[in-house]
Amino acid sequence: MILKLFPRFYDTICILDYRNIKTIAVICMLLTISVTFCFTNNFSNVEIIDIDIPDEKEDATLLDRTKLYVEMSESETKFLSYLIRRYKPKKIVEIGVSSGGSSVVILNAIKDIYGAKLYSIDLSKNVYKCPSKPVGFVVHKYFSHLMKNNWRLYTGNITAKFMDEIGGDIDFVFIDTVHRNPGEILDFLQILPYLKAGAIVVFHDTSFHFLERSDYNGGWTNCALLSVIRGQKIIPHKDLLNGVALTFPNIGAIKLDDHQEKFAFDYFNMLVLPWYYFPNKEQINLLRDFFKKHYDSFCSDIFERAVSKHNLYMEYPKEPNVVDLIMVLWKTASRIGSRIITFLKSQSQNSSQTQDGKQKCTP
Ligand SMILES: C[S@@+](CC[C@H](N)C(=O)[O-])C[C@H]1O[C@@H](n2cnc3c(N)ncnc32)[C@H](O)[C@@H]1O
Repeated sequence: MILKLFPRFYDTICILDYRNIKTIAVICMLLTISVTFCFTNNFSNVEIIDIDIPDEKEDATLLDRTKLYVEMSESETKFLSYLIRRYKPKKIVEIGVSSGGSSVVILNAIKDIYGAKLYSIDLSKNVYKCPSKPVGFVVHKYFSHLMKNNWRLYTGNITAKFMDEIGGDIDFVFIDTVHRNPGEILDFLQILPYLKAGAIVVFHDTSFHFLERSDYNGGWTNCALLSVIRGQKIIPHKDLLNGVALTFPNIGAIKLDDHQEKFAFDYFNMLVLPWYYFPNKEQINLLRDFFKKHYDSFCSDIFERAVSKHNLYMEYPKEPNVVDLIMVLWKTASRIGSRIITFLKSQSQNSSQTQDGKQKCTP
């Protein structure tokens, strides 16, 4: 029946010799492979790491957590040290130190990597949660055995200030600072020109906006950066906080694609997003000079325009000057004055009404 309906199909079958069948088989195989590749390769730029797999060399969990003061969960510290052991970086920069817990995790992970060195940077000189303690105190106090001339700590300014001294060829960066725009966007732009091709960049608090449930005012900066920065993404399979699995991991890494300079616009353009704090004048000037030195004028111009626009729209003046102060005092004084006048007027009206009433009552 089929052959009657499709005589040409019959003819085609008949002329197929062994060689044709082989060619068709190869074509079918290639088609199957490419279709399979298309379907399985959808998420090829994300590697999901199961950090629960026991690793005999892994001892981030053996660190005394009571003395660590680290601002990361246990699974996050494991993920960070897993990455260091895997990529064996020689030059590591950490931005955002606080007590020094994450510095200890990194120093512990590099102890077997010959020649590896950590450079830690913090804007503050003192721990923000405990101002009587200097930044990084935990390393000196409890983990000094991990320091063998392999740690430099820079405090009291933004990253740009220290980069000439730290120098290039950085192959691993851990960024954990404000989690609000322009925070880590600026941190990343300050370290990018000093990174080796294929460097690893790790962001903490990539789902911070879900942790701080009462505060959705920003907090999504690192989530955005993890998405936008070009490269192979690496995230943990599961992230536990106090034993409870988070819906979204709160840490993630990027193995940078080559030629990051091609994507500078994408990163600078993130500065157009809302800002939740405003860097001070000295920091803006430092950043201005840094961007002029390391990026083309188009990128510097985006920074300038973002600064002037956000400065205009910030809800509060960051650096009030004398004129602002006089204006605020004048407005407050005139508001109080007009209230006093209204009160006095209403008092005098009341008393005249009462007098009117009394006169009427008088027989
Ligand atoms: C969340 S804490 C770091 C916690 C630390 N990584 C840990 O896990 O133990 C954030 C730190 O970033 C610092 N910081 C804020 N803005 C910064 C900036 N622009 N550059 C460098 N450090 C900054 C703060 O002073 C604070 O100590």
